[in-house]
Amino acid sequence: MVMSERVMAMKKNGHGSRISGFYRLSRHERLARLAERFHLSDEELREIEQAPPLPFDVADHMVENAIGVLGLPLGVGLNFLINGQDRIVPMVVEEPSVIAAASHAARVIRDAGGFSAEADRSLMIGQVQLVNVANLTAAARQVEQARERLLKIANAVHPNMVRRGGGATDVQVRSLPETACGPMLVVHVLVDVGDAMGANAVNSIAEALAPALEELTGGQARLRILSNLADERLARASARIPFELLAEDDYSGREVAERLMEAWAFADADPYRATTHNKGIMNGIDALALATGQDWRGIEAGAHAYAARTGRYRPLSQWRVEGDHLVGRIELPLAVGTVGGNLQINPRVRFSLRVLGVTSARELAAVMAAVGLGQNFSAMRALVTDGIQRGHMALHARGVAIAAGAPEALVGRVIERLIACGEIKISKAREILESVQLGDGLLAGT
Ligand code: MEV
Repeated sequence: MVMSERVMAMKKNGHGSRISGFYRLSRHERLARLAERFHLSDEELREIEQAPPLPFDVADHMVENAIGVLGLPLGVGLNFLINGQDRIVPMVVEEPSVIAAASHAARVIRDAGGFSAEADRSLMIGQVQLVNVANLTAAARQVEQARERLLKIANAVHPNMVRRGGGATDVQVRSLPETACGPMLVVHVLVDVGDAMGANAVNSIAEALAPALEELTGGQARLRILSNLADERLARASARIPFELLAEDDYSGREVAERLMEAWAFADADPYRATTHNKGIMNGIDALALATGQDWRGIEAGAHAYAARTGRYRPLSQWRVEGDHLVGRIELPLAVGTVGGNLQINPRVRFSLRVLGVTSARELAAVMAAVGLGQNFSAMRALVTDGIQRGHMALHARGVAIAAGAPEALVGRVIERLIACGEIKISKAREILESVQLGDGLLAGT
C-alpha cells in the first residue's frame, strides 16, 4: 500500500488504537474504553473483570494431573496501524516494559504510515519417515508417480477441510542418504489447514499416508508428524521510518538510523547477538501468541530453525538505511490459528481475539509479524541510544512503588527516589514512602 492510501485508510479508520494516557487509567476505565471501541456487552465486561481467567474444571480437562491455574498479566499494545487498519494488540507477558515498548514502537511507525504485513496461505508440512528403503532413488520415483493417489488418500481424512477450500496440495520427497541409522526417505505432505494451526489435521493425514508409502517404497514408516519448521507458511512485515521520526534528545534521526544499522550488522554477523536480537522479536510475538491461545512452543521452534536456515543463526529481521528512511523487514514461519483447540474453550483467548479483530489465521500471522518487528525496533532503538536499563528500571520501580502501597499521587516521587538510590526493592520503597508521607505531613503542619 502506498503512503497516501495508508494515510487515507488511517483517516477512514479514525485513531482507534491510539488511546492516550491509557496506562494512567484504572483497570475499570481501561476496560470501559475498550468496551466503547469494541461494543463489548456488560456480560463480556463482567466476565473479564470478575471471572477467573480459566475455570479450574476447564483446566482439568485440558491437561493431566491439574492442580491449579497460573496467572499472567494480560495487557494491550496500543497505536498499531497495520495495512491501514487500527489494531489493539492483546499481549500476555511477565516482563515489564514489553507492552510499553511495543506501543511506543507502534506509535512511531504509525506516524510513518504504519506497518505493511502479509502472510502466506496456511500450508503446513506433515512428515513421514521411511526406513529400510533399499533404493532411495527408485522409491522416490514411485512416490512421485503416485502423487495423485496419495493426495486422494490424504484428502479423504478431512473432507470438511477440503470442502472449505483446504486440504492436501502436494507431496514431496526428500532423501537423507546419510543418517546415524543409515539412509532414509522422508515424504512431505503439504496441507492447507485454513484458519486452524493444523497440527491434528496434519498428523492424522501423515498417519493415513503411511501404509501406502510403505507399499510404494518397500520401506517401513516410523515417524508420522507435522514439522514445526512451517516454512511454507511465512508471514512478513515491513516499516519505512523517515529519519525525522527517529531523532532523540541527544541524537539526530540519521544518527539513530545509522546506529541501528550497526546493531543489526552486529546481530547478522554474530549468533550470540542474533539470539538476543531474536529474543526481543519473540517478546512481542510470544505475548500475542499467548493471549490468542497459540502453540507458542511450535512458533518458537519454527522461528529459530528459520533463523538458522542459511547454516548460520541470523536475525529474523533486516534493517537498512534507504535514502533518508530506516527500513525494517521481518519474515518468519507463523503457524497460528483462529479456530480450534484452546481457542474455543478459553474465555480470555476469545476475548483477546475479539479485541484484536482478526478474522483469519493469515490475518493473525500478519499482525504477529508486525508486532515482532515493532518490538525489535523498540529494543534496538533503546539499545543504541540510552541503553535498555533506564526504561526497564523506571517501569520496575513503578511496579515496586505500587506494590509498596504508594498512592497514585506519590508514585512519581517514590519512583524517582528509588531510581536515585539504585536499590529497587519493596522494603526500600516502603522506607521512601514513609519518609515522603512524613515530609508531606510535616509540611502540612507548618
Ligand atoms: C529483552 O527482553 C530483549 C532485548 O534484550 C532485545 C535485544 O537485545 O534486542 C532488549
